[in-house]
Amino acid sequence: KVIDWSPVMAEKAGFKHFMLKEIHEQPRAIEDTLRGRLDREHGDVHGHEIGLSDDDARSIKRVFLLACGTSHHAAMTGRYYLESIARIPTSVELASEFRGREPMIGEGDLVVAVSQSGETIDTLIAAREAKERGAKILAIANVIGSAIPRMADAAFYTHAGPEIGVASTKCFSTQLANLMMLSIWLGKRRGSLDEAKARELVEAMARLPLLMRDVITGTRQLVCNLAKRYRDARDVLFLGRGLNYPIALEAALKLKEISYVHAEGYAAGEMKHGPIALIDSAVPVFVLMPKDRWYERTHGNLQEAKAREGQVIAIATEGDESAHSLSQDVIEVPDVPEAITPFLTVLPMQLYSYYVADFKGTDVDQPRNLAKTVTVE
Ligand code: G6P
Repeated sequence: KVIDWSPVMAEKAGFKHFMLKEIHEQPRAIEDTLRGRLDREHGDVHGHEIGLSDDDARSIKRVFLLACGTSHHAAMTGRYYLESIARIPTSVELASEFRGREPMIGEGDLVVAVSQSGETIDTLIAAREAKERGAKILAIANVIGSAIPRMADAAFYTHAGPEIGVASTKCFSTQLANLMMLSIWLGKRRGSLDEAKARELVEAMARLPLLMRDVITGTRQLVCNLAKRYRDARDVLFLGRGLNYPIALEAALKLKEISYVHAEGYAAGEMKHGPIALIDSAVPVFVLMPKDRWYERTHGNLQEAKAREGQVIAIATEGDESAHSLSQDVIEVPDVPEAITPFLTVLPMQLYSYYVADFKGTDVDQPRNLAKTVTVE
């Protein structure tokens, strides 16, 4: 028997596509990104790789997160971390919209430019404009020595390893990890994060690689079945609130990018201001509703979607009986502190878009019209 083998197959390590491999690499990517940075002994983060001084930490007045695409969704979740953990007023900006807007920014402001490649032209130019106005620039990037870290005052790298699939997966979760670590580090230095909360977050982060592995292997089959059932749906809705609103946006983006399915990510509270008109029995509605401070209200949206005969799929905390009784299917994630939930809820969403794309036979790793890095205008 002749063994059909190529170097590319070897790089995929037995996975059909790089994207599927990279989804499965996330526990390892997170482990590498946390290594040497989490300080479990003191419930803190070692700041030497962040590149800011303790003085910087105390004097920052506002944070601006700048990014594009999937990195922008990580930044949106990062805003929750910076506000609730570090207690710093934070805004998130699409780099392309920030450019040329005459933004009110200057000394005392920290710009965090989030970019996997470190080369995205809009993010680079937006960060440059902010720097010219006197802001301090911190890059969160995956590619060492790329353009954005080079122009920045400091670079805090993710250690996801090379990402080949055009649709970003493992870099998204490591960006979340860096934003969380940055927020803990700032919170401790600014006195806005109490000891017990800091320890809870650091311990939960340390457990993440194991939990992520469990979620990937535990939800894979169900998610694949759902993808098979709904592969021909014309429209798909993803709803979430708070920390999981950006995950709803990311789930929809992934489905568009690689499966070419029209999808909308919506803040669940906005459902009655438009998207509810789309819902009928042909529309799968994914509701991200882990047990968090938004749970009751999101639960209400689930009921509304069901009342309109939508095919409701809940992404809920293990043991949520109510989600089970109201939804067609429930994708369960473990019970973790609410700030940690996005790391887990995003995993079945990535898998869902992957399986739909694979069933449709699209070019998963090289979707039409898309580039891994957008370096030209
Ligand atoms: C492209 C890629 C996306 C990525 C975005 C931002 O659109 O296809 O996966 O999220 O660029 O890239 P960056 O390298 O700045 O994170």
